[in-house]
Amino acid sequence: MTFNPLKEKGMPLDKQMRNWHQIVGKPYNKTEVDCYTRTRQILMNGIEVEAWGFKHQLGRYLADNEDKANISRIGRIENTQQMSCNWMGPADQTVLETTLGYEQVAVDLTAWLAQNEPDKYVKEVFDFGLLEDFDHLYRYSQFAYANEGIEPSAIVQGQTDVIVGRPTQHHHNCNGLRIRNHYDKNTASPQTKVNILTVLSGEQQTHNFYAEHGFMYGDHVLRETYAEIKDVEEEHVTMYESLIDPNESLWEKFLIHEFTEVCNYYTCMEDEVDDRIKKHWEIFLDMELGHLQMAAEMFKKYEKRDPEEVIGTEIIIPCRFLSQKDYVQKVLEKEVNKRLAPKGEFYKNYDEIPDDWASYLVQERVAEISAPSENAIRIGGIYHDRDIAEAKETLLNKETQILEKGLQKRAVACNTVYPKELDDMIKKHESREDEKEKLI
Ligand SMILES: [Fe+2]
Ligand SMILES: [Fe+2]
Ligand SMILES: [Fe+2]
Ligand SMILES: [Fe+2]
Repeated sequence: MTFNPLKEKGMPLDKQMRNWHQIVGKPYNKTEVDCYTRTRQILMNGIEVEAWGFKHQLGRYLADNEDKANISRIGRIENTQQMSCNWMGPADQTVLETTLGYEQVAVDLTAWLAQNEPDKYVKEVFDFGLLEDFDHLYRYSQFAYANEGIEPSAIVQGQTDVIVGRPTQHHHNCNGLRIRNHYDKNTASPQTKVNILTVLSGEQQTHNFYAEHGFMYGDHVLRETYAEIKDVEEEHVTMYESLIDPNESLWEKFLIHEFTEVCNYYTCMEDEVDDRIKKHWEIFLDMELGHLQMAAEMFKKYEKRDPEEVIGTEIIIPCRFLSQKDYVQKVLEKEVNKRLAPKGEFYKNYDEIPDDWASYLVQERVAEISAPSENAIRIGGIYHDRDIAEAKETLLNKETQILEKGLQKRAVACNTVYPKELDDMIKKHESREDEKEKLI
């Protein structure tokens, strides 16, 4: 039997205020938590931040004080849900550990969405973003090992590969090139609308997290790397939000926001392996169904249309967290050299890029001294003889080839680690592993 969220009453808004004890629950144990419980927790925080922020934006456009008050009542609940989700994270989970969690969200969520996206163009955009966050996971992993002695597997639990992707130094683009073509609100599937808002919310919160925490390390190269990757997340927010039809009304957007929350909590509830956290997802789903009812009523009142025209009659699964290694490897090997082209198009290979490509200017400017994300590999080399990489051997053996294919010929930072240097590191590591083993 299919679940039609519009037919559910959900928890009435006047029952949704919770006490402090309920709002601030107990955090999970970082060494025992399933990595996909952590990714759900990180994503739902992002979804709630977006839901809360949208209520404030919406309220600023409303003339009617009764509407304003109703929207702010829901916004206050989103605010408490955000706290509950974010504060499930424990105090002893370091910023770098949480960062690896954020990038695992981005990789495995975007890979799921790409494979469940009915619009081919939107899928192509997801695949493009995927390879950038995949590289971020790799760059941060070098610092996690060097600064805190953490192997990435302690966080990603072997579910997500950690290896070079499209090099981060090439993620910086002219803003005009990041703008993609938007869907048509009248013909786009509800799945496309929910998929985009889900990944957009995740990317926005990743940006916010780096903005608020990147300065918390003394290591200057790491601080610079947070700044560099935060700038890419800013581009990701621009890229994903540009896919949304700007002709959607505010009431239509309100409806899609609540529907997106419903769909995400529904998926979390279905997939959760931690019984205590599953109860949170169940309660929050019930609350969101209440919000959806209110959004549907306001949509009907102001638009004189049926909400089903916008969000359909069925639940959507936007965030099924599963290991996506095979899919990611396929995209990696095929598209690591892809770049953004004007008018929302792509260059399949950077050999097609013209000399006056607008992103060259941005890349040459930001990395005119050096690219912090390139020093990351060298830091891995200092602490571990080679870079920190986790993947099956057949993929690990292709790392230098992937790097070769991913590196541009122009706008390459002076501190770039070229395939030859990486290969030397790998060989050094292999020879010294034998030596080290003898010592033990
Ligand atoms: Fe919410
Ligand atoms: Fe990222
Ligand atoms: Fe991202
Ligand atoms: Fe909501």
